Amino acid sequence: MKLRYFSHSAFQMVTDQGHRILIDPFLTDNPTSPVSADEVEADFILLTHGHGDHFGDTLSIAERCNALCICENELASYIGDKGLRAHNMHIGGGFDFEFGRVKLTQALHSSSTPDNQCHGSATGLLITIGDQTIYHTGDTGLFSDLKLIGDMNDVDIMMVPIGDNFTMGIDDAVTACEFVNPDLAIPIHYNTFPVIQADPLVFKKKLTAKGIGCKVLEFGQEIEI
Ligand code: NI
Ligand code: MN
Repeated sequence: MKLRYFSHSAFQMVTDQGHRILIDPFLTDNPTSPVSADEVEADFILLTHGHGDHFGDTLSIAERCNALCICENELASYIGDKGLRAHNMHIGGGFDFEFGRVKLTQALHSSSTPDNQCHGSATGLLITIGDQTIYHTGDTGLFSDLKLIGDMNDVDIMMVPIGDNFTMGIDDAVTACEFVNPDLAIPIHYNTFPVIQADPLVFKKKLTAKGIGCKVLEFGQEIEI
């Protein structure tokens, strides 16, 4: 499976079966994105919440690619009301899709769309594809149930925000990773805007000292997982 990081919270996964999955495709208004919205293809779009720096180009990509948007209930209804394909879920619930399983987790955050027409819950995404479990925490502060999520799931890769101000900063993110204990942590949600400047190498150093693997991805970098 291929995993590509577009910066901020945005990723693309291409499974071994060829399913193309976008997560939080904030591209057009993202000053650090190496790609534009019309360059990406998607069969599925997974969203953590409705904030503009996550919802991003969802509507235009979903329309062009006829992608299925998978997210929390209120946001999915908002997307569906625009005539696009959406699958409504909610926190604690999982569903088996063609490519694998998605379960929504709690995130200590809020959710509203850029037009302020939709208010719902912020979530994390627990994605199981084949034998890999990927946990994208979404935007969140530190919460103790991350320990429960770590105890109940054998997480291979954890995408965790480190930029502070809107989410966890580096030290809280290190604690979050200790709770979840993934094989590999990937720092996200940093250096996109002036208020979320953070050095991912400092995060990596602190995490490595705790015995947890960390990979800092370049914006645009693709890895095999
Ligand atoms: Ni947010
Ligand atoms: Mn955000």
